[in-house]
Formats: sequence, structure tokens, C-alpha cells
Amino acid sequence: MTDAARTGDLEAALRVVVPALDTHLQSPATGTHFGPDAPWRALLDTPVPQQGAGDMATLRALAETVVPDAQRMTGPGFLGWITTGSTVVPAVARLVASLAGTQRYLGHSTGLLESVALRWLAEACLLTGMDGVFSSSGSVANLLAMGAARQQAFEKLGHDPARSGMRDLPPGRIYASTEVHHCILKAAGVLGMGRDAVTLLPVDEGQRVDVAAVRAALEADTRDGAIPVAVIGIAGTTNTGAIDDLAALADLADEFGAWFHVDGAYGLFGRLDPRLVERYDAVDRADSVVVDAHKWLCVPTGIGATFVRDRDILGRAFTGEPSDYIEGAFETDVQTSPWDSMGPPFHDWTLDLSAPSRGLVVWSALHEIGVDGLRARVVRDIDYARTLADLVRAEPSLELLGEPELSICCFRYRAPGLDEEQLDDLNHQLVRRLHATSPYVPSATRVNGHFAIRPCFINPRTEQTDVAELVRWVCEIGDDLVAVRG
Ligand SMILES: Cc1ncc(COP(=O)(O)O)c(C=O)c1O
Repeated sequence: MTDAARTGDLEAALRVVVPALDTHLQSPATGTHFGPDAPWRALLDTPVPQQGAGDMATLRALAETVVPDAQRMTGPGFLGWITTGSTVVPAVARLVASLAGTQRYLGHSTGLLESVALRWLAEACLLTGMDGVFSSSGSVANLLAMGAARQQAFEKLGHDPARSGMRDLPPGRIYASTEVHHCILKAAGVLGMGRDAVTLLPVDEGQRVDVAAVRAALEADTRDGAIPVAVIGIAGTTNTGAIDDLAALADLADEFGAWFHVDGAYGLFGRLDPRLVERYDAVDRADSVVVDAHKWLCVPTGIGATFVRDRDILGRAFTGEPSDYIEGAFETDVQTSPWDSMGPPFHDWTLDLSAPSRGLVVWSALHEIGVDGLRARVVRDIDYARTLADLVRAEPSLELLGEPELSICCFRYRAPGLDEEQLDDLNHQLVRRLHATSPYVPSATRVNGHFAIRPCFINPRTEQTDVAELVRWVCEIGDDLVAVRG
């Protein structure tokens, strides 16, 4: 038995799994075995082994049992939620980071890339005067931004909420539309303000927040003594990709002395599309901006970023206080080895201390395709959504449920004589049948009360022809379901 871990024979290890991964990358999104009787279940769901199977047997299990029935978000027809399989270079970069960039700190090349990648990401998204920190997700990235907002709001009143807690403080409020991602509610809960602190305001037909309603809520709450902590503008909602009126929200945040946060976890990259760039002008007035590299930049899952004007406020909100084993151990500026300098104190600006160099992965993605390549991808995906909208408009049995702003296009199948409940039911069945029988995996949502088929185009492997094929499959399955109903 060879022991790849002990001998360091990485090449031999990769020779076992790479062919399986290559086959995986050529496979459609659907078509794996699933359910309680799936053969892989019994092979994988065993008691913990007392004796290890050894390296090659383990790698073979990965190649033969796990990968063939693994999730195929890399398939060109995968169009669900706002997630996608990584492209190859950042996936390999993650492997590099896992062995050569175990921690994002210290004075090695991998430590430097944490900072370089943050700067590159900011430059790509036209963020000026902002510094960032990587975290594991858009959810955590938004939590960090809300922590900074809470810190600012209560520091202005002479309190340090991160140090002393929220007891005896007036209630803080966060303002966002009903379309806001629920990680904001979670953040308010974690930060001790409570999920109810998020005031969810109505949206217009285009799913953009009703600015007059935000003003009314701010006025009423400040009259009642609540503290306006943050006004959130969504640069690309999760459901439909709508972009709020960021300028109007920035004005309101200014007027009421609140932190202005832009959640661009999905949609900030839309700023690269020359047709949309002006919609993002007010991002320049944001106190914090979030973007997820693991969405449109197509790196492996686990990389979000928060940008703020001054990272000191993140430090005040998230420090654990200096410790002997970190700050106390890096006393000198004179480096005699890469181990002498920790580099920027990322752990003070976010939740985790140990973290791999996520910068290395983001750096590799941007190094590979550049800003021009990223822009081409974004423009192409937005074009896919617009093409789909045109095809839906031209097809009598389909109904567009909103003009796409970014790369999400929500629509449904229609049939005469069916009421709303029946249409919801029909479309629900249609999506399930698509997942089961076609190469296409869009997700679903509700738009203005209607059950919607919701493809989101961020998958770099999706082709122009897939757009028309998706429509063909939807119509075919819809027609069939209607025929069966009689
Ligand atoms: C606008 C927005 N914010 C935040 C999130 C949460 O991001 P994550 O899934 O990386 O935690 C999402 C996820 O889709 C999102 O669309």
C-alpha cells in the first residue's frame, strides 16, 4: 500500500480522481441516482472505520462512488439559485491553497495574495476608497457589514455595543425591502438587535424597494426613539435580480444619519456591464458593499467579501481583543523570516481566525480571465436572460413575470381555463419534471404572488443554444402536463 499523504505523491493521488472529475465535468446537470435506495448511500453511510482503508482505496472510493453521483452544478443546464460549479483554474487554485496557503496570514506569497485579491476585486467592481476582508459567504459578509453599521450607530451615542452589549440601548433598526436576503435577518439576530429589527418594506412591480415607504418607516421610527442603524440597497435581489434605487436610498441614509449598505453579493458584478453601469453610481456613496466571489466569478463555494471605507470599524465590531499567542507574538517589524510578520490582521475584521488564503483563489480567477473576461461573462449572461425574455414573450403558452435586470428571468407556463392555484400547481410540477427528465435545472420562486420558473444565468458553461432548448423543454413538458389534466 502506498501512502500518498506520507510520501507526498500528490500526482499519484490526482491520477486516481482526475479522470472521474473530467467525466463529471462533461456530464449534464441531471441524471444521478438519488433517494433512499441509491446504491451509493449504503456504500458511504457506514459506521466510522476503526481501521483506515488506506490512501488509494479512499481515493478510489472518491472516484468510483462519490464523484459519479455527486452534485453537477458544473453541467451547462444547471441554472438554479445563484450558484454554479467552479471553473477549473480557481478549483485547482483551491487545491493549491489547501496545501500551500493553509492560512491567509504571514509573510509568504499566499499571504500577500489575500490583500492583492481584495484590491483586484475592488478595482474590478469600481469600488474606490474601500478596503475589504474575505469571509466564507455572502451571509457572513453581510453580517460583518451589519456589525460595522451597528458599531457606528451606537458609538455615535457613546456606547460600544461590541464590547458592552446591547442592554439598555434604544432599539436599532435596519431598513430593506421584502426581497432582501434573509441572511440580513440572521445578522440582526446574531448582533443582538433581533430579527424584528429589520423593517421589511414593500416593493414595486419590478421588485425594487418603495423608497417612499422607507422614508415613512425612518420617520416613524426616529419619532419613536429607535436608532436607524442601516439602510440597505440591494444591487441584484436573490429572487429576480432587481436593482434598488441606490441613489434614493443613499440620500435617505444621509438624511437620517444611517449607514448605507449595498448588498451586491450576486449583482455587484453587473456593474461591469456598460449598459447598467450607471445604475450602480450610488455604490460610490456606500459605507459598506458585499460581493460574493463564489457567484458570478465562478470560484469554488466559500468566498464572500465585505468592503468598507475604514476597516478599523470592523476591528472595533469584531475584535476578540489582542491575545498573547497572536498580537503578543508578532512584536517586531524586522522580518528575519516569513513567519515573523502576521500581515494584515484579517481575524480582527471578521469571525474566523484560521482560514485558507481565499485571496489566492480569487487572484487566480482574475489572473486567468482579467476584468475584460469577467465583463464578457457578465454581459453574455445578462444577454441570455434578455434572450430568454424575448423567447417567452414570443411563445403564447409562456408568460414573462418581470423584465430581467441582471441574469435572472422569471416566467411561467400558462394554459387557458386554469385559475391561479392551478397554474401554480402546474408550474410546480413542471419544474420537478424538468429536473427529473431534462438537462435543465432552474430553481423556482414566487413573483408578485405567482409560482415562477427561475433560471439564473451565471454558469460559465451554459451556451446560447441552451436558452432556446430550455424554452423548448418547458413548453413540451407544460403541454404534456396540460394534456394529462385533460
Ligand atoms: C443578494 C444576496 N445576498 C446574500 C446572499 C447570501 O449569500 P451566501 O449564499 O453566499 O451566504 C445571497 C445568496 O444568494 C444573495 O443573493
